[in-house]
Amino acid sequence: MSKDTVTITDNSTGKSIECPIKRGTHGPPVIDCQALPKELGMFTFDPAFMTTASCESTITFVDGEQGILLYRGYPIDQLAEKSSYLEVCYLLLYGELPTSEQMDNFNASIRQHTLLNEGLQRFYSGFRDSAHPMAMLVGVVGALSSYYYDAMDIKNPEHRSKSALRLVAKMPTIAANSYKYLMGHPYVYPRNDLGYVENFMHMMFAVPTEPYQFNETAIKALETVLILHADHEQNASTSTVRLAGSSQAHPFSCVAGGIATLWGPAHGGANEAVIRMLKEIEHPKNIPHYINKFKDKDSYQRLMGFGHRVYKNYDPRAKIIRKICHQLLEELDAEKQPLFEIAMELERIALSDDYFIERKLYPNVDFYSGTILSALGIPLNMFTVMFAVARTVGWVAQWMEMMNEPVVRIGRPRQLYTGAALRDYTPMEERSA
Ligand code: CMC
Repeated sequence: MSKDTVTITDNSTGKSIECPIKRGTHGPPVIDCQALPKELGMFTFDPAFMTTASCESTITFVDGEQGILLYRGYPIDQLAEKSSYLEVCYLLLYGELPTSEQMDNFNASIRQHTLLNEGLQRFYSGFRDSAHPMAMLVGVVGALSSYYYDAMDIKNPEHRSKSALRLVAKMPTIAANSYKYLMGHPYVYPRNDLGYVENFMHMMFAVPTEPYQFNETAIKALETVLILHADHEQNASTSTVRLAGSSQAHPFSCVAGGIATLWGPAHGGANEAVIRMLKEIEHPKNIPHYINKFKDKDSYQRLMGFGHRVYKNYDPRAKIIRKICHQLLEELDAEKQPLFEIAMELERIALSDDYFIERKLYPNVDFYSGTILSALGIPLNMFTVMFAVARTVGWVAQWMEMMNEPVVRIGRPRQLYTGAALRDYTPMEERSA
């Protein structure tokens, strides 16, 4: 028996199968059980994919026990401190940090694609003025594929690359336009003389009557928030993008699917939900009452911004963002941020409560990102949109990786059927109530 196998035996038949163990660069090894249906006539049962590695990937590594996050091998804290969002985009897309010439070329390619087709701008007026901007994002990104016929062949690597650049370049414009539409303000066109983050802020906050006054601390904070959210291996939205892509769908539609998945409060929608929760708590004196509610399953209320499927020690992104949160609020005058006081007290109480300790529930990145975004003047309903802008590069990098594989098989999970057994159709007159 090879050391690098796991034997699975069906005790009812005595039949066995040796499943190879596959080892990656880091992380636990995986059991390759692809031969199970053929050899034992069985599938694995893994609701919510708690123990399933759905693909091989070279992009991002997360160690939930140790609180480690690496993009292409580089620790997130080094990238957050030393890199820029666009450099991280390059790294995620192409696998290596760029030389200065490569970075200049990448910058130029992104700038070339920041503008939206004027026809697409008119899409916005079809939305209600009370629409959630995430709904607008899903629609407008999905509609991109009706404008770019020059890059529709997903089997062509040049087309794939062009679509990837377009998505990363246009997402801030699409996001800012959704905000402008809701505000009833004119759209602000991208300025290609500005950096990616500055341009995004300019499109969000400049008006024809007044330019946007850049605040270096705010730009740096937002840049870091974008870096921290850029990729997170096979999370729900990325898995959606991969699954959609496996059917050979166009990347714009795949990313629209990813945006829809991100919107949920258990995923990217948590940053918005955290602020709503803090507003509901209203005052630190109400925290004990709410903590009891969060622990009570019948209340259906969770402590938003706490807990993570993978991180069971701490979320390394939360550690970085917490520091920035403190610095930013100090600089921007914390008194204007009463919610921050509630957040810090809530964090203190939850971290010393047995319920949260026993279940290894720690603050995640979204516990703090909402506080930073509000300090930057970003409205609440735009929080998850900011996450979507940041995560676009991760979705696209993961999609490209999958499409570059020699064979792309359609993703198709199986099930354990527990419904009615085979039975014959009964005519209506013979059916009892
Ligand atoms: N508040 C109260 N109880 C919680 C929480 C929470 N935030 N999170 C998990 N639990 C409890 C849960 O009730 C369960 O208790 P028990 O064992 O007694 O039944 C136990 O902890 C395990 O929870 P789970 O639902 O099995 O854990 P999961 O890995 O399926 O869920 C999660 C992970 C992130 C969806 C969940 O922790 C949660 O809903 N957190 C709040 C939402 C949130 O902050 N989401 C952002 C995640 S980070 C950004 C991103 O990656 O998108």
